[in-house]
Amino acid sequence: MSPEQLKEKIRIIMDFPKKGISFKDITTLLKDGEAFKAAIKGLAELVKEKDFDLIAGPEARGFIIGAPLAFELGKGFIPARKKGKLPGETIKAEYKLEYGTDILEMHKDAILEGQKVLVVDDLLATGGTIFTTIELVEKLGGKVVGVAFLIELTELNGRENLKGYDVFSLIQY
Ligand code: PRP
Repeated sequence: MSPEQLKEKIRIIMDFPKKGISFKDITTLLKDGEAFKAAIKGLAELVKEKDFDLIAGPEARGFIIGAPLAFELGKGFIPARKKGKLPGETIKAEYKLEYGTDILEMHKDAILEGQKVLVVDDLLATGGTIFTTIELVEKLGGKVVGVAFLIELTELNGRENLKGYDVFSLIQY
């Protein structure tokens, strides 16, 4: 299944979560076994030249894409969780939401100094979420070798926030 065919599996919902937003709903792709598999295999193909030890992804949709990609490639997976969810000692990074801020956390022992990490999420919009995930990885001494998304909203220029990183996306709007 090509990226164009995968795109057809994504449902667009207008005015969610608020007026003027055209929401890219991946649940329609995820429930189609063949499409889900093709999406993960497509991402695996995109990053095949990259050498890394671990995949890190932010809650919640970063888990849905990051964990099966890690499984497919035989790598470990590190969750960046919303605050108060991880039981061990954590480091935190704050990120901006439209109104106010939120916090992502990672376990302090999740990454060893110098380990190579691919950072993954379902979607790149402004880049705020992924940048915060990158910040956590780097604070722990990890080296970010690339950043991969199922979907990139090119109009929002999220790539600008990710200058200096190798950015991959399978589907673009
Ligand atoms: C969405 C999406 C990305 C992020 C992209 O997550 O899954 O993580 O927004 O936006 P950005 O590039 O502007 O940061 P959301 O915050 O809706 O959380 P969820 O994954 O828990 O639904």
